[in-house]
Amino acid sequence: MSIKNIRPAISPFCNMNCRYCSNSNNAGYAKMEDFRRSSISSGVLSTDQWLQIFKCFYDAGFKGISLTGGEPTLNPDWLSMLKYCKDLGYVSTELTSNLLTLGRYKEQLPGVDYITKFKVSLDTFNKERFYYLTRVDALENVLSNINFLVGLGFNVQLNRVTMRSTQEELIEYVEHASKLNVSIKLLDLVYYKGSNSDNDIDEWASEFISSEFTWLYLKNHIKDFGNMESDQRYGWQTSYKKMNIILKDSKLTKRSKRCQTCPLYCQEGIFTVRIASDGTISTCPDYKNELSYIDGVRALQDKSLTERLKNIFKEFKIKEGYHFEEYVRKL
Ligand SMILES: C[S@@+](CC[C@H](N)C(=O)[O-])C[C@H]1O[C@@H](n2cnc3c(N)ncnc32)[C@H](O)[C@@H]1O
Ligand code: SF4
Repeated sequence: MSIKNIRPAISPFCNMNCRYCSNSNNAGYAKMEDFRRSSISSGVLSTDQWLQIFKCFYDAGFKGISLTGGEPTLNPDWLSMLKYCKDLGYVSTELTSNLLTLGRYKEQLPGVDYITKFKVSLDTFNKERFYYLTRVDALENVLSNINFLVGLGFNVQLNRVTMRSTQEELIEYVEHASKLNVSIKLLDLVYYKGSNSDNDIDEWASEFISSEFTWLYLKNHIKDFGNMESDQRYGWQTSYKKMNIILKDSKLTKRSKRCQTCPLYCQEGIFTVRIASDGTISTCPDYKNELSYIDGVRALQDKSLTERLKNIFKEFKIKEGYHFEEYVRKL
């Protein structure tokens, strides 16, 4: 049985300004994954509140955590948070990061044994393209931090979003990554309805390529590219040389009863639980604040959080299925 995962946005701010994120007009506030109900001026959770929330999720059955943001390494307590979770019993303790400011933590990282994976968002190995996408000229720095982590023996995975317009670059990307002793996750493009980023529907429709198509493309263009096998976690896996490659497939989702009447009907369905930097808890990418959520701070105060999270946990027991046609019909 696969582990049920949570994604806490432990920093609302980011040190990059990526084109797919809603960062450009918000003075560093990166809200792509940070679905707050309160304004940013009302502050963020304290580390103590975060730890209490992680404990409640653990008690409710969740055993995987991937810190995100914004950029999670801008929260100086990210390492101690992961250690706390590992000590609690979480079996998967990960960080999703752009690695731009990893240098601040280099002295603390040797010997760390409580991080199961570093998931590094890296869409290109081309310096100019990196600058275009992130608006920061830092490819060398990020690559040096990747090599540093690999050198320490950490499990490092590169995340890249697949798009039709950058499909040809993918061949070079896979070849380059295979020399780094990392794994890759190729994420099919998600359309975030209601976000005020540039991510609009026509662009999504012209840029989306299915994970099966991505695999076929790579198989046809790279000698000795592996076969495609089911990954059981919203996707597929394959390999190249010794490198493991996961293809995330948003067509494979879980839909609960409430999805059927949902005014949003998102692409990914019941996929992960997001905890925003103000403690808002939801499974839904709810940019318009129109769906139900749990106020984590209040639920901690009245001691109802664990019980309420158990209800969310039950929804994850639903089997994955194909709901893509329904999604496209409802767009
Ligand atoms: C928003 S970032 C936040 C965490 C951290 N700052 C980082 O850069 O990894 C999280 C991930 O979302 C992915 N992502 C962004 N837009 C996406 C989209 N439209 N479809 C699929 N994945 C997307 C990015 O590739 C990145 O790996
Ligand atoms: S937004 Fe939430 S309720 Fe609506 S379809 Fe997505 S997961 Fe289901």
